Amino acid sequence: MSKSSEISGFYKLSPADRLKIVKEFSGISSEDAELIQSMSGLKLEAADRMIENVIGAIPVPLGIAVNFLINSRDYLIPMAIEEPSVVAAASNIARMARAGGGFHTSNTGPVMIGQIQAVGIVDPHAARMRILEAEDEIVAKANEQDPMLVKVGGGARGIEVKVLDSTVGPMVVTELHVDCRDAMGANAVNTMAEAVAPIIERLTGGRVYLRIISNLASKRLVRSRATFPKETVGGEEVVEGIINAYAFAAADPYRCATHNKGIMNGVTAVALATGQDTRALEAGAHAYAAQSGRYVPLTTWERNEGGDLVGTIEIPMAVGLIGGATAVHPVAKICTRILGVKSALELGEVMVSVGLAQNLAALRALSSEGIQRGHMKLHARNIAISAGAVGEVVDKVAAKMVEERKVRFDRAKELVEELSRS
Ligand code: MEV
Repeated sequence: MSKSSEISGFYKLSPADRLKIVKEFSGISSEDAELIQSMSGLKLEAADRMIENVIGAIPVPLGIAVNFLINSRDYLIPMAIEEPSVVAAASNIARMARAGGGFHTSNTGPVMIGQIQAVGIVDPHAARMRILEAEDEIVAKANEQDPMLVKVGGGARGIEVKVLDSTVGPMVVTELHVDCRDAMGANAVNTMAEAVAPIIERLTGGRVYLRIISNLASKRLVRSRATFPKETVGGEEVVEGIINAYAFAAADPYRCATHNKGIMNGVTAVALATGQDTRALEAGAHAYAAQSGRYVPLTTWERNEGGDLVGTIEIPMAVGLIGGATAVHPVAKICTRILGVKSALELGEVMVSVGLAQNLAALRALSSEGIQRGHMKLHARNIAISAGAVGEVVDKVAAKMVEERKVRFDRAKELVEELSRS
């Protein structure tokens, strides 16, 4: 029988005890566990091969979000992030989601778009037709570049061609659709786009400049939805606040940017833990949010007929399990094993579910007590420790400062002295 990810009091355990649970849940080896705990998962030589001018590495905290139930499967979810409250918030909302059956997901398949820009064409609309007539030739040329991808069921699928009006006159842009299977796909798509460029030049009589993947991965969408029984999130009034918070984001791009940022707190943290290209994901998500010409929320929140809260999310998700940092960063590889995902699409579905949870956590807090109290609790602990508190004094000093609304170093020092004397 598979194990449950619903673990109460996980946050109260020591990092070592948490890791023990993760190891038992996921079946990672003792060496894997030691590597995670060593805080130095990436060797200098490996880093030096990954990027240029390397001088070292900068570790980021790695936490585990618990309680996630997605398509009836339990997940422990690694999240790499420097911001407090994010991991706790995801875990908390995931626990609430279980009461409504957890998260349910779907996707469009792993198709990326490569763009080939041709300019200086005298008859752009006829050129567009000539390119479309040659679709088979273009797709075949693209697929010659990556026989491995074709062998595993992926490869170029077809093309679309558009004529754009631009500041330098009309340009004909050919879009190559490539099923990337479990690769993020940038390498495969860019290679294909470069390979077919001479065909485009021949057909258009123009000149090709750019041949590059689009990060607006609108053919690689991943979705998730969850129902939260109203009493689980705090009752009707809380639901009302959340719906109002969502309406604010839907009506105003200034609020919407922050709304979507909160979603990406979750998505990007899992992306970083698993070695994904976080910038590609961020670019794709925000461009997708603006695709209608208006920048809109990546989530929706509404009530079902019983008055329970229902959330949905849909985001382009260009993630991979092979290639890139996922394949070479030892800790990213272990994080992927902890997740136990079998495909890039499954990874994407987990990531958007975390994004949905993250969004609800933010809206729920913002529309009620605000987020500062939660932040302050953690901040107070850090101040208490830096003022010399140890053991149980840490929590006592932190609690007192929060209660007094005086989360300051000088007050922490006084309290540490008082409590040490008593
Ligand atoms: C902070 O990192 C994220 C939030 O600002 C998101 C939001 O406002 O919805 C809390």
